[in-house]
Amino acid sequence: MQKDLLNLYDLTKKDFDRIFKRTATLKRMHQSHRHYHPLRGKTLGMIFEKPSTRTRVSFEVGMFQLGGHALYLRWTDTQLGRGESIADTARVLSRYLDGVMIRTFQQAAVEEFAQNASVPVINGLTDLYHPCQILADLFTVIERHGTYKGRKVTYIGDGNNIANTWIDAALRLEFDLTLACPHGYTPDPDVLHRAQQEASSQILLVHDPWEAVRGADVVITDTWVSMGQEKLYRERIKAFKGFQVNQQLLHFADPQVIVLHCLPAHRGEEITDEVMDGPHSAVFDEAENRLHVQKAILELLMADAQRLRK
Ligand code: CP
Ligand code: NVA
Repeated sequence: MQKDLLNLYDLTKKDFDRIFKRTATLKRMHQSHRHYHPLRGKTLGMIFEKPSTRTRVSFEVGMFQLGGHALYLRWTDTQLGRGESIADTARVLSRYLDGVMIRTFQQAAVEEFAQNASVPVINGLTDLYHPCQILADLFTVIERHGTYKGRKVTYIGDGNNIANTWIDAALRLEFDLTLACPHGYTPDPDVLHRAQQEASSQILLVHDPWEAVRGADVVITDTWVSMGQEKLYRERIKAFKGFQVNQQLLHFADPQVIVLHCLPAHRGEEITDEVMDGPHSAVFDEAENRLHVQKAILELLMADAQRLRK
């Protein structure tokens, strides 16, 4: 594995498999209350420029459970908020910390940080990508369906960071991905184009959710108004009319379909209560799996780095 986890495009198939295998082991150990402290004495810095519930808590708890310590750093409370450069910050923090997780707006900022840091850097969400989330999602698919291989995965809604990251996952792994997004709200064109050129699996973009959902084994949705887009709320709600994941739509999916949502959900907008709380929903397992998958990532990147990263 590389030093950092910035996106899923940079992972090999072997990296995915290693992460999922370690996640399964760490989850089992956690469930049987076995203590395991490979990160004893190590500290993760967590820089947040956007709000978070799951990412912050699961990383902080994960570090604690692995015997290490996590430090919450609000962007605006550091000198980054007053204009200290990303490069200088990365160089300084690398002298104190053993790893850094960052949630910010620009993917380029996370990449610049990683280039200047000598310790592993983990992307905790940017406007472009959310790799830890989609690793947890894929692990949830494996738990529920046995494998992601050969499955039909359908994403309905905004072509945002979640959609872009699913596209990179489909490029590396053997499942078909159909995305249904309204015109004007489609995924990043470069990410989509690259995946369609390089993938052996099928990656389709359509504009009709009913067409996309037919026979799906996994249905994913996400908010129509991502962090930083709050001012566009009214026009976005209008644009996404007809893209709600509800019971009528799910009737067209495979009877064993599972529904994923990274959360926070806007119940009654992109997803109904009936689906969120219904028998097909895997959203709370998915949220829990953030903890287990991130522990695997932290262990692989930060513990005994040379041996584990190979
Ligand atoms: N899914 C997710 O990343 O949630 P938070 O924004 O609460 O961290
Ligand atoms: N697309 C959402 C994901 C939240 C976890 C956002 O960026 O706000």
